[in-house]
Amino acid sequence: MSVQPVTAVLIGAGQRGAEAYAPYALQHPDQLRFVAVAEPDPQRRARFAAQHNIPRERQYSTWEDLLDEPQMADAALICTQDTLHTAPALAALRAGYHVLLEKPLAPRPDECEAIVATSEAVGRQLHVGHVMRYTRHYQLLREIVQSGVLGEVVDVDHRENVAFWHMVHSYVRGNWRNSALSSPMILAKCCHDLDMLPWVLGQRCQRLYSVGNLLHFRAENAPPGAPERCLDGCPAAQTCPYYAPYIYLEMKPFWHNYAETAPRGIARWATRQWVERPWLVRLLSVVYPDLRQITEYRGWPLTVLALDPTPEAILEALRSGPYGRCVYHCDNDVVDHQVVSMLFSAGSTVTLTMHGHSHIEHRSTRIEGTRGRLLAMMGNGGGWIQVEEHRTLSRRTYDTSPPPGQGHGGGDMGLMAHFVACVRAGGNPPEVRQAAREALESHRLAFAAEESRLSGQAIFME
Ligand SMILES: NC(=O)c1ccc[n+]([C@@H]2O[C@H](COP(=O)([O-])OP(=O)(O)OC[C@H]3O[C@@H](n4cnc5c(N)ncnc54)[C@H](O)[C@@H]3O)[C@@H](O)[C@H]2O)c1
Repeated sequence: MSVQPVTAVLIGAGQRGAEAYAPYALQHPDQLRFVAVAEPDPQRRARFAAQHNIPRERQYSTWEDLLDEPQMADAALICTQDTLHTAPALAALRAGYHVLLEKPLAPRPDECEAIVATSEAVGRQLHVGHVMRYTRHYQLLREIVQSGVLGEVVDVDHRENVAFWHMVHSYVRGNWRNSALSSPMILAKCCHDLDMLPWVLGQRCQRLYSVGNLLHFRAENAPPGAPERCLDGCPAAQTCPYYAPYIYLEMKPFWHNYAETAPRGIARWATRQWVERPWLVRLLSVVYPDLRQITEYRGWPLTVLALDPTPEAILEALRSGPYGRCVYHCDNDVVDHQVVSMLFSAGSTVTLTMHGHSHIEHRSTRIEGTRGRLLAMMGNGGGWIQVEEHRTLSRRTYDTSPPPGQGHGGGDMGLMAHFVACVRAGGNPPEVRQAAREALESHRLAFAAEESRLSGQAIFME
């Protein structure tokens, strides 16, 4: 007997909805099929509809129009911007859909509580876009900690090192630059980390204290004579690391980042060559067409600037759009560095450091236990975990790199596989309810960290 694919509607066909999650349905048509889309941007809507064969009468401009109709699928993916999560999530759950909601749940604590409570009340599943839980890297890291090989966990130093070019893309020029328009950065960037740390350690945070501020991306730090936009004759064009054509047209920091974190192999070699000798990679791409994934790259972050990011379209976006603005002349107010110090329930101390001035984008973790230590790194190109034992002095290193091209270290597709399997199983089983409650707890920690940063007070969690 053939099993029908799970059906879904997509609300918000942007970067995450259309580019990160929906490809799962194209790769696994036997498992997942999109039957409707709500998206106000006509180009994005049409493109998604064409990719997923969605008939005209199932293409909607807004989530309200779609959810006003009788339930038409098993599940709803809600991938709108942070401030537009609560209303469609509540409506979709009440209409009978199982929901995959992008993180953060919502930018306010009461809204987060309401979404989780509604999912429980109506008996529909709520999954949150905490993709890091579905990476091989963090699954293995958790297994190692919970195996006891490190003994009791005494101290954790976990860092979210946001690269300088990603910082300005998302948190100075981009969608998450201003906390009133989206969320505080500790929620937007680190609800993943605040979700993973208790999950990895099997402990809850009892108390936290946080400090941080916006140190650098302020008008007073602008180079003398810097205009409002990079392309308007900036005198620092040759020296400023944030010069928009350097980030989006040359893309050297992006590929350098990949090369620096990828495991040894052809992808690492080729991306390094592309930074140092682009002519060589261009030449080789004639014979090895796979190299065109580099020479003709049209993915994130370029797709944020233009739906079809040709060099001409990118140039136009830099001339007229938000991503061509001088980083010292933006309406940003979120921090560029913040530290959260936490005490966990079994006595472990945990420090989470988030900052936006890293040379290379990566998360790094150091766990000191009574019987050994763990060091780990996960970057855009790959990752590794190293375990050293005190008594035997043994050292084991694990390569946790996903196959090239997998978003969020393989987490995007991993989350989708899990979501589809849970929806197929139906109901709202205890493990799904627990994961939603844990997601809520991660958001509570982020809100508490922000409260602590602003008030200067330690926060005691319930
Ligand atoms: N899980 C992760 O690691 C991760 C990574 C990046 C972003 N995010 C989150 O994903 C969410 C989406 O981010 P994005 O980068 O895809 O944003 P995006 O702007 O690319 O996509 C949002 C889409 O929603 C559409 N939209 C706006 N109003 C709508 C309405 N009334 N009805 C239906 N659609 C509407 C927009 O037109 C846009 O296409 C955000 O909450 C963001 O914080 C999560």
